[in-house]
Amino acid sequence: MERKTPVIPEADLRRQEEIADYLKSWWQSRGITPVAYVETYGCQQNEADSERIRGILERCGYGLTDGPEGADLVVINTCAIREHAAQRVFGNVGALVHTKRRHPGQKIFVCGCMMGQPEISARMKNSYTHVDGIFSPHYLWQLPEHLYKVLIRHRKAFAVEPSDGAIAEGLPVVRMNDLKAWVSIMYGGNNFCTYCIVPYVRGRERSRLPEDVIAECRDLIARGYKEITLLGQNVNSYGKDLGLGVDFADLMAEIAELPGEFVLRFMTSHPRDASHKLFDVMASHEKIAKQFHLPFQSGSDRILKAMNRHYDREKYLELVNYGRSLMPEIVYTSDVIVGFPGETEEDFEDTVSLIEEVRYDALFTFIYSPRPGTPAAKMPDPTTKEEKSRRFDRLLQVQNRISEEKHRAYVGKTLRVLVDGKDGDRLTARTDGGRLVRFEGDDSLIGQFLNVTITDATTWSLVGEMKYR
Ligand code: 5AD
Repeated sequence: MERKTPVIPEADLRRQEEIADYLKSWWQSRGITPVAYVETYGCQQNEADSERIRGILERCGYGLTDGPEGADLVVINTCAIREHAAQRVFGNVGALVHTKRRHPGQKIFVCGCMMGQPEISARMKNSYTHVDGIFSPHYLWQLPEHLYKVLIRHRKAFAVEPSDGAIAEGLPVVRMNDLKAWVSIMYGGNNFCTYCIVPYVRGRERSRLPEDVIAECRDLIARGYKEITLLGQNVNSYGKDLGLGVDFADLMAEIAELPGEFVLRFMTSHPRDASHKLFDVMASHEKIAKQFHLPFQSGSDRILKAMNRHYDREKYLELVNYGRSLMPEIVYTSDVIVGFPGETEEDFEDTVSLIEEVRYDALFTFIYSPRPGTPAAKMPDPTTKEEKSRRFDRLLQVQNRISEEKHRAYVGKTLRVLVDGKDGDRLTARTDGGRLVRFEGDDSLIGQFLNVTITDATTWSLVGEMKYR
């Protein structure tokens, strides 16, 4: 099979680099070291995109700053997944009028998933006239050109035309953490869940070549990174567009074989495409964390169908149980939506019972938010807001009890953790299953794997004591 994945031609990428270098010397010639502030909303993919934005900006001569006040450039990287996030973006972009007034040279760019929605980017363009540039995720790689338009030609930059997207390999990256790295293995998605806006704004599934992903991971490990998280909207369909006969499980296995001390994670998986092979690979590779984020969204088969999820409760539980049969210690986490259009009390009870059956360590719970343009937004939704928030509260209650019970069960166990930072006067660390542990120890331990004995637990975290090195 031939590679169907569209890629940005090498020459086009070089051209952007040339523009970036030009902008850098332009700033230098004016005797200014400009600073940029990048604000990120939403998921890890967006965080990873912001790391690329910072990388490109650095190449354009920018330093980084941690707030909009006095920044020469503000980039707001937006999230479209729920109404609430979108409203916050409009509010915060609106407030930038004032920082721009105080620093008239300030340029403002808005990008990310919201800008992939034509009505939203049009509203941003027409009503927020202090915004200088708007680009959707497909045009991130052209950031030097957008900046050139604004800084040198004194025009506005808009790049929001609909596109299926293409892969831009080798963009510079400024990573925000020197222990943990995100590695995008693919972009976009082909699953059209009826509630979800993401496939409309991020385009079709495009996988990076395995050798490019592996080279990036090898380089990260060589530079001392201890945790790598492979990112994709649906990592389980990695490689389908490449036609190389390499699937996600194969890719994970190859990365897990790289020499060095590190832990390998991934997100997110769609249960429709999660394979036994992936669990087999996890079980047989020590460096792959025994944690699986497997969003189920609803425990009701009727609702799963209306969501266009292509699996049922039985298939989902079969996967969960298969994983546990191989790895009894595996930690499951998940996403769930409450109040999908037409969800009845009975459907909701099915969701509660699924949670009780799986017993997740942690759950991300969302109230359904209609996204214009998605099929679910047109479905009748008679359930009141009050009823939805009652269901939401009930889910939280159930999950909090389970999380606490699960966390209690860790007490007395000795677990290998990666020490990743400080919280007050204690160190913070993550277990293989991704649980947060706080314990006393010297700062010099940050960045190391060590064993801690769990002495106490709360709903959200564990308390430990250092065992031995
Ligand atoms: N409303 C509420 N939650 C949503 N999610 C995605 N779209 C919506 C929506 N329209 C949730 C899903 C997904 C998570 C990232 O966000 O649970 O897994």
